[in-house]
This record gives sequence, structure tokens and C-alpha cells, in this order.
Amino acid sequence: MSAESLIARNFACAEIPQQLRSKPFLAALPELTVAAEEYCDYCLSYTNGALSLDALKDKALTGVCSNFLTPAMQRRLRQPFKQQLLGKALGMKAQRKQRILDATAGLGTDAFLMAASGCEVTAIERSPLVFALLEDALLRAQLTGGSFAVIASRLTLQQDDFLCLDARQHQFDTVYLDPMFPTGRRKASAKKAMTLLQQLLPAEDCPEQLLSHGLECANKRVVVKRGRRSPPLAAREPSLQCRGSTNRFDVYLP
Ligand SMILES: C[S@@+](CC[C@H](N)C(=O)[O-])C[C@H]1O[C@@H](n2cnc3c(N)ncnc32)[C@H](O)[C@@H]1O
Repeated sequence: MSAESLIARNFACAEIPQQLRSKPFLAALPELTVAAEEYCDYCLSYTNGALSLDALKDKALTGVCSNFLTPAMQRRLRQPFKQQLLGKALGMKAQRKQRILDATAGLGTDAFLMAASGCEVTAIERSPLVFALLEDALLRAQLTGGSFAVIASRLTLQQDDFLCLDARQHQFDTVYLDPMFPTGRRKASAKKAMTLLQQLLPAEDCPEQLLSHGLECANKRVVVKRGRRSPPLAAREPSLQCRGSTNRFDVYLP
């Protein structure tokens, strides 16, 4: 049984936004009853207008959601993107806005930052659970209006396995990859979300395919996020690297 089948929900599907209501994944989750608490390890809630995930047996891992409206995101949005490590790795130029494929979207932080810089971003996520959290965050950004809605309009979400995308039909300037890392890479609030995702999602099992498929779909570059001391993805040396204090971005030029 996969970990994702041990999730309950503590809301009725009628309570959540129309766009999420029809998701077969959400409708199939068992409701959180006393009996379900015995065999479920995680619970998806709908509180204060947002979907969030709690580990039922670990009180430290609660309230994990995707959220583009946090003060931390607002601080990042105020910094010029070209000066941020990710902006440098993407080779951002003011004049030209890229078409980017975020092939491992996760909770969408990086995708939202790239869209905020003016790029058209397609974000693919294969986990239906993570995808539901991501879609919910995008809906809230759209409803907030103003600059959040403008950024959201540049972000297209797709629930799929990136490796199933047909490279002949889907070409982008840049493919961005941020595969699951071993534990211990991230700090502070991001750590809680990553710990929970690491418990729930399978570890990256085909890094070679991720990178080679990325190179097939990218016209200009593939950017891979790595931990500062992690080996290059699939042991393949990048063309260049942008190094930060906790992460680095490896850049491959096809
Ligand atoms: C480390 S997280 C990405 C975090 C993301 N960059 C962010 O800013 O929130 C990795 C995500 O990639 C997804 N993933 C891994 N392999 C994938 C694939 N082949 N296709 C689509 N999604 C994939 C996982 O389900 C997981 O949610």
C-alpha cells in the first residue's frame, strides 16, 4: 500500500472550492472518523479557506500547505529576481521572458517566483496529493487579485509525470528540476513541509531519466537544484554552477 492511501480527509467535498471538488483523488479519501484515525497516518483538512495536511501521529508536522501569500514569499518577491541565485541560474535577461517548465513542481514556491519574474511557467506535479495543495494555493492567489492574480495567470498547472511528457510536442526555453533530496537539506518553516513530503512521496528513483528528458524538452538550458554538497544529478557534471550558502543550481546547456 502506498503512503498516500493512508490519508483521511476531515471535510465534506461540498465544502471545498468547485475546482477541487471533482478531483477523484480527494473524493476517494476516507472521511476522518474515530475508526479511520486508527489506520490513517495523515489527514487533509480544509481550514480558513485552505487545504492543509497534518501528520496524525506527529504533532510537530501539522498545517503543511502550499501558500503564495506568506510574508516569506512577499519578502522574496521584493528582491530583484535577477540578483537571486535562481534568477542567475536561469540566465534571466530583462528584455526576454522565458517559457519555463518546472518539471517537479512540489508546493510551487519556485514556480511562483519564476512566474513573478515575468516568465510563462508550466508546473508539473505527479503526486495527486501535492497537486491538490498546489492547485488550492493557486486558486487563493487568483482570488486575492492584484499582483498575485497577475502572477497566477502566468502559471499553468498540470498533474502528470514529467517523464510521460512527449518532448516532440512540449518544448520550453528552460526545464527546471528540483527532485526530492535526502533529509536534512532545508531549514526553518520549509523543513516541516519537506519532512512531511519526504515521508509521503517516493524518493527519486530515476535521476538519469529526469535529466536526459529535461535536456530533450529544453531549447536553452536545464537548471537543477541541489543541496550545497550533493553530487550532481545522475553524476553528470554541469556546464556551470551557481552556489549559495545552502543550495546550488547546476546548469546544463543542451
Ligand atoms: C523537492 S519537491 C519540489 C519543490 C518545489 N521546487 C517547490 O518550490 O516547492 C519535488 C517534487 O517533485 C515531484 N516529482 C518528482 N518526480 C517527478 C516527476 N517525474 N514528474 C512530476 N513530478 C515529480 C515530487 O512529487 C515532489 O512533489
